[in-house]
Amino acid sequence: MTTLHSEGKAAREGLVTCRLSERDIPACVAMAQESFSDFQGNPETVTQWFEARIIRNPWQPLLDGIGVGIRKAGELVAFRAMFAQPWWINGQETVVAFAAHTAVDQAYRGQGLGFALVEASSSFAGLTGSTSAGTATQKIYAKQGFVPVGGDGNGFHQCRVGYAGSLHRRVGGTAARVLGRLLDLTLDARWARIRTSARGEFRPIERCDHEVDRLWANVQAEESSCLLRSARYLNWRVFDEPTCDLRLGSFRDRTGKLRALAAWATLDFPEGVRCAVLRDVLVCRSDEEAVRGLFAELLLYWRRDGFTWARFEVSSTALEGLYREMGLDAVHSHGNRYWIHAHPSLDSEIADDWFRSGLDGDYFDCGSR
Ligand SMILES: CC(C)(COP(=O)(O)OP(=O)(O)OC[C@H]1O[C@@H](n2cnc3c(N)ncnc32)[C@H](O)[C@@H]1OP(=O)(O)O)[C@@H](O)C(=O)NCCC(=O)NCCS
Repeated sequence: MTTLHSEGKAAREGLVTCRLSERDIPACVAMAQESFSDFQGNPETVTQWFEARIIRNPWQPLLDGIGVGIRKAGELVAFRAMFAQPWWINGQETVVAFAAHTAVDQAYRGQGLGFALVEASSSFAGLTGSTSAGTATQKIYAKQGFVPVGGDGNGFHQCRVGYAGSLHRRVGGTAARVLGRLLDLTLDARWARIRTSARGEFRPIERCDHEVDRLWANVQAEESSCLLRSARYLNWRVFDEPTCDLRLGSFRDRTGKLRALAAWATLDFPEGVRCAVLRDVLVCRSDEEAVRGLFAELLLYWRRDGFTWARFEVSSTALEGLYREMGLDAVHSHGNRYWIHAHPSLDSEIADDWFRSGLDGDYFDCGSR
């Protein structure tokens, strides 16, 4: 255990800030179960999260520890997990430590421990990040030199994919399908804007291989900062150690060449209405034809698969313009949900040009962390 801070309100009160190891996971799990209502009904979810994102994370050994904590007389009273994500930044591979499950024992809240945890986590690695939606933590980031990445909001957008799901409960199966098909034509007219000569085919895939690595090599050549999405990483994250049910699909042009990948999850609304949540897109920034072709085919694929809504949780300066052109609606955000702390500090150009994937942190997988 390494003491990180000897000063500050928490230390003055006899509390010691420390770095955590795998031995501390059971205590972290118990505290997370007490602190987050969505774990209370399913205590195994948080255990599985630690196993997938920390214990079986091939990049975790590149960090010194699994998070930061605060102890009193040896007992853990607060913690913030930090998990490793391989990153591509400024032409180099590195690792970013992303925060998850910041929690303070109820008896110790309101005494500055949350603030002290975030402070300790910012020196956990050269680059640390958080995709938290927490209003308390966002306030703390703003005071501690974290940079809000990608503007003021979350960059999320949404649109309707089809009408049949919404009509089903009102008019029943057959009528919903017929009427739905007619109303869907209005959506098709809107999507016609993004159709280009890059017609092709979108298909789910079950494993990534060398073709994905070739695509990734081309993507990374044009990005200044993004999650490293090699075949190895995507196989680990999406297929081997998912923390929610993720799907991956490929967009191939008419020559059969792989031009883009998309990852999505499913959100279930009441009465069987489903929303596809786009979590990642792997496509060359300069290949505008491919991203247009991908979205045009993906929306049709989702409709055929029974989705009513689509939410886009991938954001970049290039995609923002396309979302506007597609007429997507911006989704309300409680502040900026993506903060980065770097030392040495980042060039503002890199922070501004950050590609925000819904796979970056794990907030998107697990709810409101
Ligand atoms: C959120 C949490 C970590 C804060 O810890 P804490 O030790 O009570 O926070 P601090 O005393 O360091 O307060 C830091 C700032 O956050 C504010 N804050 C604390 N809890 C808050 C809440 N629930 N909502 C809004 N602001 C809050 C404090 O007022 C303080 O801001 P101020 O200095 O401007 O007054 C703690 O309440 C907790 O464990 N909650 C349950 C789990 C959770 O929601 N985690 C956050 C996930 S993002």
